[in-house]
Amino acid sequence: MWLAASVSGWAVVHPVLNAPNVLTVKLPPCGTAMRRAKEHFDRAILPYLEAGLIDALDEQPLPCRSLRHDTHGNFFVMKGGSSTDPTKAKSSDLAWISVDDLDTWRAFRDIFEQTGVAEAVARLVSPLHRQVQLYSSFYVVRSHCTDTNWHADWPVGTGTSAWTLLAPLEPYDTSDFQLLYKDCAGVVHQYRYEEGEAILFGSHFMHSTEPGAARRGAAAPHAFLCFTFGSDDLGFYEEHVAPTISGYQSRILVAADGSVRLTEIGEYLEKDSALARSCQVVNTPLLV
Ligand SMILES: [Fe+2]
Repeated sequence: MWLAASVSGWAVVHPVLNAPNVLTVKLPPCGTAMRRAKEHFDRAILPYLEAGLIDALDEQPLPCRSLRHDTHGNFFVMKGGSSTDPTKAKSSDLAWISVDDLDTWRAFRDIFEQTGVAEAVARLVSPLHRQVQLYSSFYVVRSHCTDTNWHADWPVGTGTSAWTLLAPLEPYDTSDFQLLYKDCAGVVHQYRYEEGEAILFGSHFMHSTEPGAARRGAAAPHAFLCFTFGSDDLGFYEEHVAPTISGYQSRILVAADGSVRLTEIGEYLEKDSALARSCQVVNTPLLV
């Protein structure tokens, strides 16, 4: 990896992908982080997907609901369509399935710590006082995509101080329906997700889901473990991170100082308990 000066500070250029602010990290071998993430998914979430959850969300006043499991965590599903462009909402059945109480949040923080990525990015994160802070943990699932949606996950001022991680839960060997990205010259390439490898996005990294479809449709979507994390400086967080992740990707998240907060959709559902009930959303208290 090379470091290069950019208008907004330091940027990294990936030596193979030749693109800005993207890292690929080999994850610890099977039996550790990814196996635990897959176990939570298979036990607490997959049965709902097989029963048609993603399509059923369209029938609700808001396309979200809670999923509760006795032993493998509590989650909040939000169907997002295309994550950043409402006009492309129908081009994908993307959904975020986020941790939804503190116990589940802590279980996923353990998984995050096992991946070793906090250490991998620490020297790129500034300001950094104590440690790289985990903000949110979720799964991204999608079974089809008909149109590209080019975007960077973070605003330009974020640089390499906040990151999104994506790691596939299984090998997905479709020829398309992978990741498209633009290199430093603006040329489009395909990145193929690999089991055991995480890809990390900072600011400036332009990417899109590649159009395509999962072989077995919405009951067996491509599923990715996803973390957002970065600076533990509260001022940096409020300016650069909160505006990006405080909307509706999850109901709760954790700020740079470790405090648990409701997102905008979390506040909305808390204020309108009738709406929450009609969506099968449980407004779990933040502190338990
Ligand atoms: Fe993205």
